[in-house]
Amino acid sequence: MSVFAAVPLAPRDPVLGVTEAFREDPRGIKVNLGVGVYQDERGDIPVLDCVRQVELAMGQDTRPHGYLPIDGFPLYLATVKALVFGTGSEILDRVATVQGLGGTGGLRIGAGVLAGLNPRPAVLVSDPSWENHEALFRRAGFRVGRYRYYDPERHDVDTGGMLADLAAAPKGSIVVLHACCHNPTGCDLTESDWEEVVKVCSERGLVPFLDMAYQGFGAGLAQDATAVAQFAAAGQTFLVASSFSKSLSLYGERVGAINFVTASADEAARVLSQAKVTARTLYSNPPSFGAKVAAQVLADPALKASWEQELAGMRRRITTMRQALKTGLEQAGVPGDLSYITTQRGMFSYSGLSPEQMRRLRQQYGVYGLGSGRLCVAALNPGNIDYVIEAIADVMSQPDAGPAD
Ligand code: LMR
Repeated sequence: MSVFAAVPLAPRDPVLGVTEAFREDPRGIKVNLGVGVYQDERGDIPVLDCVRQVELAMGQDTRPHGYLPIDGFPLYLATVKALVFGTGSEILDRVATVQGLGGTGGLRIGAGVLAGLNPRPAVLVSDPSWENHEALFRRAGFRVGRYRYYDPERHDVDTGGMLADLAAAPKGSIVVLHACCHNPTGCDLTESDWEEVVKVCSERGLVPFLDMAYQGFGAGLAQDATAVAQFAAAGQTFLVASSFSKSLSLYGERVGAINFVTASADEAARVLSQAKVTARTLYSNPPSFGAKVAAQVLADPALKASWEQELAGMRRRITTMRQALKTGLEQAGVPGDLSYITTQRGMFSYSGLSPEQMRRLRQQYGVYGLGSGRLCVAALNPGNIDYVIEAIADVMSQPDAGPAD
């Protein structure tokens, strides 16, 4: 009798499982709009010029492959802090930063440290949220609830519902917030909405946990960190998971971080010690290549300036694709106001397509998105957009036949 005999088959991951299914699809014409990965106009994941320059320079350098410290590459940690909180921010001495395996790894270290609190607080995520938020916090031992976030009628944030739910949350609850480019809806809070959220978190004693995976894909690096700046200015203690997967196009290198904003330098040292225990027991110490690349780009003013320009180029291309998608669907006769396609920000369009329509898109056309209706508009390009428009317009014109499988 095998020890694994009773192990059930887990369903595919709702995001990365789509890529698995896409890869297995033998059809010649197919489009992966599932995972949040930016692709250029030829459909390639770009190697940013700033990254290429650092890699070429590193190619000459054959240093030994030793271990990094448990908390990560020191220059990387310093540059992450400066990027997330602003160079010279006066809170930096009470921030503990640990390199993470992407933003997800940062979230997991944060969850691991918070799981040590007694009593263990509940976690609230937005409704809807990135599927892995709920899964990750549950795995780390938390009860996970939801706060209202998205109003499907208006294709916008239900700010009133969100604030009411936060005001009613048990004191000390951890509130997972998307700093920018909300995943999956693409609908962000305005600056004044954030002021209200900061206020309610402070009044209710909630613990904000910001996920900033898409910094630079909304309006710009500094603009996308507005929420972080507001929580910092309010003197709150909070967490920020950050990532360079998207912004430096370093997906597979797993370059992220977790930043704990504590009340004092002494508290930061204690939190850092616990974060290191968490990291050590999960994977010991982080990989070095991506962190060294990111650190060198961020620490060099010319490379950083070039990075900002490349990010702006990616934003512009996404805007162009959003516009083309909206116009194309209108011309194909899709009824209703489609302006939400161009007002949503970041990599995703929350299309409003039903699970059944998403299933048809996949089965009939080989166009893969998430069951929630999320489509990655950052994977559209001049070579696939007409096909995608035709496919979406067709499934929208068919009567909804009931629940998807
Ligand atoms: C996504 O939502 O597509 C990305 O954040 C990739 C992931 O890890 O799910």
